[in-house]
Amino acid sequence: MGSDASRSGPIHPRLLAMMMAARYYGLDLDPIEFRGDPNEPAPTPAALSSWAQGAGMWSRAVRLRWRHLLGFNDTGPVVLLFTDGTAGLLTGASVEHKVVMVRDPRAPEAEPPVPVDEMRLAEVWAGEAIMLRAQRGHAEADPPFSLRWLFGLVGQERAAIRDMFIASVALSFLTIFPALMVMTVVDRVITHRSYSTLALVSVILAIMILYEALLSHARRLIILVVGVRVDAKLNLHVFNRLIRLPLDYFERHPAGETMYKVTQIHQVRQFITGKLMATFLDLITLAILLPILFWLNATLAWIVLVCAALILLIIVAYLRPIRLLFGRVVKAETDKQAALGETIFGIKTVKSLALEPQRKALWDERVAEAGKWRLAFGKISNWPQTLVIPVERFMWVGIILIGAYMTISDETGVGVGSLFAFMMLSQRVSAPLVGLARLMEEWEEVGGAMGQAADVLNRPLEIDNAGTGVRPKFSGAVSFEDVTFTYPGTKLPALNKISFDIPAGTMLGLVGRSGSGKSTITRLLQGINREYSGFVKIDGADLRAINLRHLRSSFGVVLQENFLFRGSIRDNILAGRPGLTLDDAIRAARLAGAEEFIERMPNGYETYIEEGSPNLSGGQRQRLAIARAVITDPRILILDEATSALDPESEALVNANLLRIARGRTMLIVSHRLSSLVDCDLIMVLDKGMLLDIAPHDVLLERCSVYRQLWAQQNRHIDSQGNRNVALAAPRI
Ligand SMILES: Nc1ncnc2c1ncn2[C@@H]1O[C@H](COP(=O)(O)OP(=O)(O)OP(=O)(O)O)[C@@H](O)[C@H]1O
Ligand SMILES: [Mg+2]
Repeated sequence: MGSDASRSGPIHPRLLAMMMAARYYGLDLDPIEFRGDPNEPAPTPAALSSWAQGAGMWSRAVRLRWRHLLGFNDTGPVVLLFTDGTAGLLTGASVEHKVVMVRDPRAPEAEPPVPVDEMRLAEVWAGEAIMLRAQRGHAEADPPFSLRWLFGLVGQERAAIRDMFIASVALSFLTIFPALMVMTVVDRVITHRSYSTLALVSVILAIMILYEALLSHARRLIILVVGVRVDAKLNLHVFNRLIRLPLDYFERHPAGETMYKVTQIHQVRQFITGKLMATFLDLITLAILLPILFWLNATLAWIVLVCAALILLIIVAYLRPIRLLFGRVVKAETDKQAALGETIFGIKTVKSLALEPQRKALWDERVAEAGKWRLAFGKISNWPQTLVIPVERFMWVGIILIGAYMTISDETGVGVGSLFAFMMLSQRVSAPLVGLARLMEEWEEVGGAMGQAADVLNRPLEIDNAGTGVRPKFSGAVSFEDVTFTYPGTKLPALNKISFDIPAGTMLGLVGRSGSGKSTITRLLQGINREYSGFVKIDGADLRAINLRHLRSSFGVVLQENFLFRGSIRDNILAGRPGLTLDDAIRAARLAGAEEFIERMPNGYETYIEEGSPNLSGGQRQRLAIARAVITDPRILILDEATSALDPESEALVNANLLRIARGRTMLIVSHRLSSLVDCDLIMVLDKGMLLDIAPHDVLLERCSVYRQLWAQQNRHIDSQGNRNVALAAPRI
């Protein structure tokens, strides 16, 4: 692994300018994190601003004019992107002298910025600029998930919604005309036997039917497009949010449950752009048609209204029980999904322990439970539908009967034609009214679904302010000062007043019985759990003040079980980190002792690894994970029982490399095999969350009884052969 500089070459002037501007706000942009398109001759404005945004800054790529520049007097630096691919830093302006102050990012720090006038700047600058600022209050930019927020998201598609509105209004008018035509036909054509009117009416009707078809096609298309676009945004947002939840959350919730809950948000979206929008559009029709109904026949119109109100009442009456039952359904479905997810994720264990019958029993139980509540829910929501039908039918039949009666008696002057027209239109009116009532019913479900999604997505994020925190260059000194930590929901502290101090470059071994807090120390160091008391410091800087992403990327971590992603061996070692090449991967593999087996693979570094890496042995997987961790040349490397799953031979291979791996970095090695820690500079002995001792192996053997005991337990065979430990270990057993 080369150093940062040799890996990425000299830093591009545009990146330099961005870094200088960021530094003005006390933030360090890391060129390693820049994601540019390698095919572009120079970093693009969009890539530059998203780089700054990724570091938590506010940043926009903008086009500016000379007069704008003059306004930037004491507003902080602006990055000007020059046409030749380089950049300059605008540090100030003078309206009086008609110049702006521009600094060359490649010039030495001490050099003052040069004054540039409009003519000279125009030679190299066409208006492209990046503005950036430190960002406080990140929460504003990332509102909580709620129906309101979702409506806002849909509302962003203003143009589409406007078009849809226009189409709907036009459609509503189009629905009126056929009815009026029928009225004309009945009243005039039939009564007066007018063929010419009939022909005209036919032509008009045909044209309108065509129009209606086209318009409704357009309307559905718009709804579709809006839905797809909102879904895409929603997906990005949801994932972004999900991935920033603390590890703690994922440890405490089954993956299946999380997945189910999160996907609920799409159901809500579907409701908004589907049912809700359709009903809303129908209401437009209603608003247009209702006056016409009253104009045609007020008595009949009242009948329609009263029936609709009755339907509304019935549905409202059932809202509460339906909501209650729906909550049960959702709960049961979540549980069911969790059982499924757990089985799939743990399928290896399920199979190897022959737990299929138990899992199946659990599944059966969950399915039955979900079925039971679905049935209850379905039964209760069947009632309002049943009660609504007679009212709905009466609306229909009643209109015909009463209308017919009125026509016969003819006192009110109801013509046959207008009765026909009324019947046609009233159908269009009653549908949205009933739809509106149904909507309220569904609203309940949607509220529940939203609650589910929000339950996951509105949790406090791990990196609430991605941009906050310092980003120091680490050398790797670690100190704990009186650190006490208790896992949420447990009583006893996992770490109890731990204090130690190790200089950069130390190879530290951690030993102790199972549950003594070894992994917890490494977790605190990585910022996974942050609710401890006392201080954890890296190079003297308080861990809480360090930018979390920066902190994690300075670490390399290898756990007992490591997840390899689907892809080639090379991809897995590189893990998508920019600026790394196959050579780096080979170097890392060599360091991890993986080189030899990779080269024996049929396709070497291009060998494809499936999900769960079935074509690799445990030891091979582990060595790949080590290679993946060391490739970035992390300042601090954590191996948490990384070699416990290895066979003695591969373990020896990795251990032989440990010293080499440890060169130039701090290393924390948790291991149950003390023999692999003998070479450590210091070994820390933990017991029930307390630090018993920290010293080199030889010293511990002499003064720490717990360590001596552990050592003796593991080295009995050596003792029996008359090894040097006999004298020390024997009396203790
Ligand atoms: N996520 C968690 N939630 C609650 N308690 C936890 C969690 N992780 C660990 N603990 C508890 O904290 C204590 C210390 O656990 P830790 O994982 O640090 O032990 P360890 O020394 O790494 O053990 P092992 O050698 O078995 O890995 C244990 O008592 C454990 O039960
Ligand atoms: Mg552990």
